[in-house]
Amino acid sequence: MKHFTSAVLLGAAVVALVSAAGTDGGISFEYHRYDELRKALVSVWLQCPTITRIYTIGESFEGRELLVLEMSDNPGTHEPGEPEFKYIGNMHGNEAVGRELLVYLAQYLCNQYQQGNETIIDLIHNTRIHLMPSMNPDGFEKAASQPGEIKDWFVGRSNAQGVDLNRNFPDLDRIIYINEREGGANNHLLQNMKKAVDENTKLAPETKAVIHWIMDIPFVLSANLHGGDVVANYPYDETRTGSTHEYSASPDDVMFKSLAKAYSMYNPVMSDAQRPPCRKNDDDSSFKDGITNGGAWYSVPGGMQDFNYLSSNCFEITLELSCDKFPNEDTLKSYWEQNRNSLVNYIEQVHRGVKGFVRDLQGNPISNATISVEGIDHDITTAKDGDYWRLLAPGNYKVAASAPGYLTVIKKVAVPYSPATRVDFELESLMERKEEEREELMDWWKMMSETLNF
Ligand SMILES: *[C@@H]1O[C@H](CO)[C@@H](O)[C@H](O)[C@H]1NC(C)=O
Ligand SMILES: *[C@@H]1O[C@H](CO)[C@@H](O)[C@H](O)[C@H]1NC(C)=O
Ligand SMILES: [Zn+2]
Repeated sequence: MKHFTSAVLLGAAVVALVSAAGTDGGISFEYHRYDELRKALVSVWLQCPTITRIYTIGESFEGRELLVLEMSDNPGTHEPGEPEFKYIGNMHGNEAVGRELLVYLAQYLCNQYQQGNETIIDLIHNTRIHLMPSMNPDGFEKAASQPGEIKDWFVGRSNAQGVDLNRNFPDLDRIIYINEREGGANNHLLQNMKKAVDENTKLAPETKAVIHWIMDIPFVLSANLHGGDVVANYPYDETRTGSTHEYSASPDDVMFKSLAKAYSMYNPVMSDAQRPPCRKNDDDSSFKDGITNGGAWYSVPGGMQDFNYLSSNCFEITLELSCDKFPNEDTLKSYWEQNRNSLVNYIEQVHRGVKGFVRDLQGNPISNATISVEGIDHDITTAKDGDYWRLLAPGNYKVAASAPGYLTVIKKVAVPYSPATRVDFELESLMERKEEEREELMDWWKMMSETLNF
């Protein structure tokens, strides 16, 4: 994750400030080609330097930066206890609305923060937000270079090598479905396999960069933004039997539905039960309240959404935002209006469930401890500072913290819709326990000998 040099950024910034004139509430509703996207992000950074940072997670096949704008009260650092969130747009290069919405979202959050909007200030102070407008900048350039306003349905979907990035992730669903039957890990299925990822020649550079990003940052919640339909899609995307359409519940089905609804509910078009399908023959029969299970809609192997859930602590959903993949520029403002409240509300979902720290009896953090919830066969793990976030729907739960060499602690927790319930764990190490037992034995022996007058 290398940093930009400021000189390069400032060069771009002067142009950015000039072109920001004539906008609407500080937002310019237009398409941003690659150079313009850089400039737009830089101008947000210049406007809100104390709460933003720009970084890149790598390069596309043709050498374009995979840019991220981070928004947080402490840009550049993970604050212990503060959850991390990400939005990824435009992984299909010709699905352009999400890319633009993330630019507008950055501008909106920066403006509202400066104007003293308490909701936005709280959000930025308590969350580390990462916005990647384009995971496939090469595909976007290809799609955008087509002459005329009507774009082809497929041109620019894949990366420059012709790889569909949302089919290119390691297919961990196949592994989890075997583990479900035969026993085996229920989380972090790529544990200690970074090297294998690097050496895998089937993975596109964009995919590899995102895999590293997912594994390096303790993301809690995420969404990836697509176009071509209007629905919030949640795991699993790949069916258990291999059939084309089949409801494919993950262990966190209840929470995933709730997360998807937290998006669709605030989008009047997505949640409209009377909305006709995007195209006459589309099969929307799995859509309900603007959400769908991925497998029930159609099976997708190698997708990014399921990869997040099965390789890390991050819960991701897939948002389809527009019937047209690359609509006319003059409709962009209406897409922003449809999605603005959803985009903000979905980030706020990161503050649900149970969160806290796992430490030893001396107060030292225990990283990589396991947090398991009775009845949900999907554990999550603590981050470097022993901090954890376990997204959960409202209810009563038994939550256990465990780590090799320590005694497991189980706590009963009542979880409201939000905010997250704080639950800290102090784990006694087995060595400490042995020492205690030895002392207890010695005390008992002393007492016995005194009583019996040895
Ligand atoms: C503050 O931000 C929230 C969330 O986007 C929004 O609903 C609200 O209207 C904003 N308040 C003002 C005064 O603009
Ligand atoms: C985390 O813990 C798991 C299980 O206890 C272990 O297999 C894995 O190697 C650990 N990972 C790291 C990075 O220490
Ligand atoms: Zn797509």
